[in-house]
Amino acid sequence: MPLVPLPTLLADARARGYALGYFESWDSYSFEAVLDAAEAEDAPVIVGFGATMLADTWLDTGGIEMLAATGRALLERRNVTAAFLLNETHTLDQALAGVDAGFTAVMIDSHRWPVEQATTAITRLVAAAHAAEVAVEAELGSLPDAYHGGIDGSHASLTDPDEAAAFVATTGVDCLAVSVGNVHLLTSGSADVDLDRLQAIRSAVPTPLAIHGGTGFPDASVAAAIAAGATKFNVGTRLKRRFLDAVVDRTRSWTGAESVHDLVGSHKDTDLLVAGKRAVTETVRSFLRLYGASGRAEQVTTAVAS
Ligand code: 13P
Repeated sequence: MPLVPLPTLLADARARGYALGYFESWDSYSFEAVLDAAEAEDAPVIVGFGATMLADTWLDTGGIEMLAATGRALLERRNVTAAFLLNETHTLDQALAGVDAGFTAVMIDSHRWPVEQATTAITRLVAAAHAAEVAVEAELGSLPDAYHGGIDGSHASLTDPDEAAAFVATTGVDCLAVSVGNVHLLTSGSADVDLDRLQAIRSAVPTPLAIHGGTGFPDASVAAAIAAGATKFNVGTRLKRRFLDAVVDRTRSWTGAESVHDLVGSHKDTDLLVAGKRAVTETVRSFLRLYGASGRAEQVTTAVAS
């Protein structure tokens, strides 16, 4: 299945009352894990790589191109209904590099920038990306985060519905990430989300809305959030945590007798990282079911073909 434009996926999800998951990968193991999950669940999905945690020195010296090539090489050989996102770059130039490298959607991590600076950069990005048939996501409002453990809300701000409407009209983005109480990078507990605010943004903004911080978003509120206007959830931290836990468990069972060539980078069952990959697949499958995306790939394929 060729890649599906992000707006097409979002339109199908919105029309049919489910949400898409963007499951953030960081290497080929985690990327393949998401593909395995989407295939097993017959679910449309947004696959891709996050830039926000990565070093600029690496991103700017071939990292973006390497991630794009890895993703495209794997996607071309799989039967997955997917868009391919370069998520949350540090700079406009990195997002533009993502457009050139073969991602089908890009986003700048501009939530700490002054709104005027973000508006200018994202308007430029949209012009270049749309000319290459690449979609753009942007964020207005700023999520608290739990990078250092406790929740840091010092830079946080909730999304205002009228400002969001103006921002989308000026920039022309294809998807808007909103701040409605959701928290980035939570490793325990869940966020206290304001679904009335989400509904108000949905009423003011025609563009599909994304919820970042999927790890800490309460499961019990997902259906209500979709009804209130959420069309995309981003999940990252939970995947890395499950990956790490599984690799640590697997590593503990190393006797010292096995060959390092089987354990490290072999992609065989004996590979330590394959244990992590399997844990990510199971985690993504449960999110796909939670979002109502399971079993939906065929309808998207049919809609695209007709
Ligand atoms: P979590 O890591 O909190 O799931 O959030 C991921 C995210 O929003 C990436 O954009």
